[in-house]
Amino acid sequence: MSILDHTHPQASADADLLRYFPKDFVWGAATSSYQVEGAVNEDGRGPSIWDQFSATPGKTYQGHTGEVAADHYHRFKEDIALMKSLNLGAYRFSLSWSRILPQGTGAVNQAGLDFYERLVDALLAQDIAPMATLYHWDLPLALHEKGGWLKRDTAQAFADYAEIVARRLGDRVTWWQTHNEPWCIAYQGYGIGIHAPGLKDMSLVPTVGHNVLLSHGLAMPRLRAHVRPGAQVGITLNFTPGYGADEQPSTLAEVGKAARADRWFSDPLFKGVYPDGFFADLGVAPPLIKDGDMALISTPIDFLGVNNYTRTLFQATGDGSRSKKVDLVQGSLYTDLHWEVYPPAMRDVLVWLHKEYAPKMMLITENGAAFVDDWDGSSDHIHDPLRTAYLHDYIRAVGEAIQQGASVGGYFTWSLLDNYEWMDGYSKRFGMVYIDFPTQRRIIKDSGLWYANFIRQYKMHQS
Ligand code: FCB
Repeated sequence: MSILDHTHPQASADADLLRYFPKDFVWGAATSSYQVEGAVNEDGRGPSIWDQFSATPGKTYQGHTGEVAADHYHRFKEDIALMKSLNLGAYRFSLSWSRILPQGTGAVNQAGLDFYERLVDALLAQDIAPMATLYHWDLPLALHEKGGWLKRDTAQAFADYAEIVARRLGDRVTWWQTHNEPWCIAYQGYGIGIHAPGLKDMSLVPTVGHNVLLSHGLAMPRLRAHVRPGAQVGITLNFTPGYGADEQPSTLAEVGKAARADRWFSDPLFKGVYPDGFFADLGVAPPLIKDGDMALISTPIDFLGVNNYTRTLFQATGDGSRSKKVDLVQGSLYTDLHWEVYPPAMRDVLVWLHKEYAPKMMLITENGAAFVDDWDGSSDHIHDPLRTAYLHDYIRAVGEAIQQGASVGGYFTWSLLDNYEWMDGYSKRFGMVYIDFPTQRRIIKDSGLWYANFIRQYKMHQS
């Protein structure tokens, strides 16, 4: 059965979804370099902090690494054919900094740039708009050894790298993003150490966050100088809103903390200030802010990338003395990462961002779900109704936000492919396309078929 023949049982419900989405809405899917490319030792790529972290015993699920990942480096043409059959209008990928600058600064590895040029050209040949993210967590190891994101020099190095990429691809790439989820870079990587580089020191977190923001601000004019007219330059932040199951003061306090955490990067980017009380919540000192930093950081962006997967619900304990995260919300469905499925959070985040900062445009740059996929080892089918339902309901929530005035221009699922889910290795599957990792065989899951059909209906609706 071809995708075009595929009729999803929810077809009529899907038709109802379509009316929410404006003309020229972009439907895409996302991946990131270390999670899909593999080829870590090829064509002059230098090591990144993720190569080192994943090779350190005990850091990742069964010691899994991104050495081969989804082998996208070699199979990108096959993957673009899959994107085409999924009717995608755009593909969000990230570039590996150490493929382009093996030492992070200095000599440029042309073979690295050539790879991304081949990828971009192949996308354009299929009429799929490339969205390039410059940093999705894989810092060149050489820079880490000089202090990494703890050093302002790294922000400068990032801006140099951004310009090198923009000089080569600026005439062709429509959408640019400096960073993916600075929150995770700082908190997970330096605070609790579950991501590379694996440091566990909360006092480092504000400095890392600040230097990442600084690198964004420094890169903005360097990108703008070399991208084509009409190209859109932005950044992606992640949001996990907090809700209260009751109105106890301790619950409201936790909800307030979650709100400040969600503002950690958006307040500086849009208002040029850090949220009041946020560093006190973390119990650490604020970063050192030099003259001019906040003005640089709040350089206007063309769009805000929004990643949202779940929410946090807080509830007072029996004696009412404190409140904590509810681990299992009655009646809620949880994904394989134990993330609660809660589509209204997507709507609420978008409406809040719109009211609070009025970004020129927002794009959902990641949304999706890890569920266990069963494959019998031979058939061409993967039935993943939970993922389909997740996408359907979250897309609907995006539509509701648009209806409430939020200006949203696109939606990208996480992920196009099953891939290397950081410290969970290959044990968690997020793809709309299944990968049998031993053979690298690709199979479009039912959720992918649903998405393809939905996009097809959207296009018909527009014409
Ligand atoms: C996001 C990351 C992405 C992926 C998803 C599940 O935080 O940006 O790389 O791991 O979570």
